[in-house]
Amino acid sequence: MTAMRRALLLVVLCLWGLSACRREAGGFSAQPADRLTPVARRETPSPETFPAKPTPVYPTPKFPTCQPDPAPALDLSVYSYRPIRPISSREGGATSLRQLAELRRFYVGVSTAPHFLDNREYAGLLAAQFNMLAAENAMKWEVVHPEPVRYDFSQGDALVAFARANGMAVYGHALAWDLQQPGWLTGGEYSREEWIQILCRHIKTVVGHYRGHIYAWDVVNEAFQNNGALRNTLWLRKIGPEYIAMAFQWAREADPQALLIYNEFFAEGLNQKSQAVYSLVQGMLRQGIPVDGVGLQMHVWLWGPPTRQELTANMRRLAELGLVVHITEMDVRTQYAKDSPAEELAVQAEIYRQAFSACLEAPNCNVFVAWGLTDRYSWIPEYTGQPDTPLLFDRQGKPKPAFNALLDLLSRSP
Ligand code: XIL
Repeated sequence: MTAMRRALLLVVLCLWGLSACRREAGGFSAQPADRLTPVARRETPSPETFPAKPTPVYPTPKFPTCQPDPAPALDLSVYSYRPIRPISSREGGATSLRQLAELRRFYVGVSTAPHFLDNREYAGLLAAQFNMLAAENAMKWEVVHPEPVRYDFSQGDALVAFARANGMAVYGHALAWDLQQPGWLTGGEYSREEWIQILCRHIKTVVGHYRGHIYAWDVVNEAFQNNGALRNTLWLRKIGPEYIAMAFQWAREADPQALLIYNEFFAEGLNQKSQAVYSLVQGMLRQGIPVDGVGLQMHVWLWGPPTRQELTANMRRLAELGLVVHITEMDVRTQYAKDSPAEELAVQAEIYRQAFSACLEAPNCNVFVAWGLTDRYSWIPEYTGQPDTPLLFDRQGKPKPAFNALLDLLSRSP
């Protein structure tokens, strides 16, 4: 090869390298200008007893990436939530669940929606007893991304505004899921490359919008069937199983601080589904995919909840991978129970107590979220078509035995 040819080749290589480099940098750096200080610092419980994540043993796959879509900036003035004075936190000299949790750097939360927050009693109870809120529906695809080029963050922004005003952390839910998707998505006809771009842009836009304000994101929700096979979701059909790893990769690019969680139901104990979840996250860690933990939803019944031993064993094996575990959506259905209401509530309290104490004792669990504040606002009656009392507070907002069980556990010395 002549010197002339070599020089030419070098120039071509260099130019190619530079533009590839720029393409890469563009994909990773496009973030909204708004980068406020996070509400709550990310705390990992007991770092000494909590091993580092294993180093990747397989090469990290190179996934396509994207730029976020143009979308409204974070608007914390959508609802002007003033801090709620936690009036009931020291009612009768008693200390609140929140105060006790904070002494242990622990998060106790419930899922909620912005329209409840205008009710002062509701909002007062929420801010007094909890230091975390989860977006029950406000950040789901059908709400935030109703049309291909339109995003609506008003509900999610209202939750973030309330949380900031009251010093609470926010749990983001959920980015890649098969339910509550808008019609343009479920009826859409696109090529695989286009589906990849659609999911990528959604994740980059939504996660980027809330960057710095979300403690943890449910990046992928309910990807497995109970037998451990992958659920036949839109994303599996259109992209293939790698949509899961891709979603985590894009979420990390959009917010390096938020914990990235795989969230699942009926995978709390030891069964085919929790085994599939374990293998998934283990495989992702080996490939260097940025997964931080597993969310155990904990939608359970009075009979047959996972045993304490199973729950602890499952939490432990995930800790051994260097992952956190969160209880993300707990409720305990009482419908069809045959005992007296008082007995039912006592059994329910014991189920909550066991789950909470398993989390408190696990070095890698520092988040416990119930799916709703009071029985009046639970999703269960509508979902099952039966009346139910699955939550920590009754329909009038009075604490139930289940709430007192959590308070009792936190009142004991750690
Ligand atoms: C539920 C909400 O609570 C309801 O308001 C909505 O109508 C349907 O979805 N697992 C999940 C949650 O991950 O998003 C679901 O939330 C409950 C089951």
